[in-house]
Amino acid sequence: MASGAASTTGWFPVARATDVGTAPVPVVAGDRAYVVVRLRPGGEISAFPARCPHRLVPLSTATVTEGRLQCPAHGWRFDPEGRCVDIPSLGAAGTPPPRADLAMPWAVEERQGWVWLAPDRTATPAPPRACDVSAPAPSPVRTEPAGPVFANLDPSLERAWHPVALSRELRPGGWLQVRLLGRTWMLRRDGAVVSADPPAFGVRERLGVIWLAPGRPADVPLEVPEAGDRRFVSSWLPPLRSPGPAAPMVDTFLDATHGPFVHASTIGPADSAEVSPGPVHAEPGGFSSVQEQWCDNPVDPQVALGGRPLRQRRRTTYTYRAPFQVRLRQEFLDSGATTTIVYLVQPEDLDSSRLYVRLLLSAGPGQPLPTPATAAGQVALQQRILTEDIRSQAALDLAGLPLDRRAEVHVPADGRAVALRQALCDFMTLGQRQLAA
Ligand code: FES
Ligand SMILES: [Fe+2]
Repeated sequence: MASGAASTTGWFPVARATDVGTAPVPVVAGDRAYVVVRLRPGGEISAFPARCPHRLVPLSTATVTEGRLQCPAHGWRFDPEGRCVDIPSLGAAGTPPPRADLAMPWAVEERQGWVWLAPDRTATPAPPRACDVSAPAPSPVRTEPAGPVFANLDPSLERAWHPVALSRELRPGGWLQVRLLGRTWMLRRDGAVVSADPPAFGVRERLGVIWLAPGRPADVPLEVPEAGDRRFVSSWLPPLRSPGPAAPMVDTFLDATHGPFVHASTIGPADSAEVSPGPVHAEPGGFSSVQEQWCDNPVDPQVALGGRPLRQRRRTTYTYRAPFQVRLRQEFLDSGATTTIVYLVQPEDLDSSRLYVRLLLSAGPGQPLPTPATAAGQVALQQRILTEDIRSQAALDLAGLPLDRRAEVHVPADGRAVALRQALCDFMTLGQRQLAA
């Protein structure tokens, strides 16, 4: 029997066979992390790497569907040999690229009530016949991506305006303690002036938010034309906290392919899983991208009256500004209604981010403004959607967003994800240059 933390040669007993069913079990062999699972009830045991190659989601959260292992984030499916056999965003006719296949262990076997795993080719073709097997040690392996990640305490973040509270959270004459970049700041409102202690480069109010810049900012503010448009009604969601870094959360807000999976119980079923590539246009401080997608639009009153079909075309314009600002303008092309969602993320600590989400709704040309009841219903729905995103981020368990292209596998629908990683690399470089100057 192999032993020793660093070795990956030899056979490792990783789990009791009776503990492995059709829910993946995380295990460790040597210094490598895997999941073991039966792809059919009572069937053979298969072993897969611990993370999905796409966005590195832990496969311990995967499900078994039709004899395949399905990742919960974007629905990629893997057969028992680790071949990626389905990428829903490519559509039914799409073929997954070979680089989407999993790097599988050399062998896995069930023997004497134990699951044995050999990560690398070994001289012994089968596990030992008889030996004293004790319960495997609990996993000490934390699987992190190869290469650098963009984390919440990145030094470049000193040089940006960050949202630290909604304006309404700081009453006249009041004070508020906030966390930003691993430090505590005290905000005070005296008359029209908001100040910070310890002093910062600047504190300002914009878009109904208090912003703080620790050092001279190098970012470009996000514009929200809908905020000054009388055809829109506006509501803030109560701020929520995510137990993870800001950059992967922004990645989620820019992603059009996770809806049918992460949001399966809210808006997911309404969206087509097939997503065409959305071209990305570079802009000062970030980028924009327009994406059209089929979706169900049950809130269109004409659907119930038979004036329009349920399945409609939606055009989404994504606008991103580094480091953590996103505006999503969703235009329902048949009804003329528009929903704009503004996402602002505050990097509080390494493993904590606060989310500010503003909803701006328009019923379309010639239509009365959305009623307070409609706006309240939309806010409640967005809160549930955001809670699903936060749960998915918590399961991701990464220190930051991978910046090395080779750490993940990108497909054509991931254009904005690639652009985000590049924009954050540029932001880091700009920050380093300014610090050196
Ligand atoms: S399908 Fe696994 S992370 Fe996207
Ligand atoms: Fe989402």
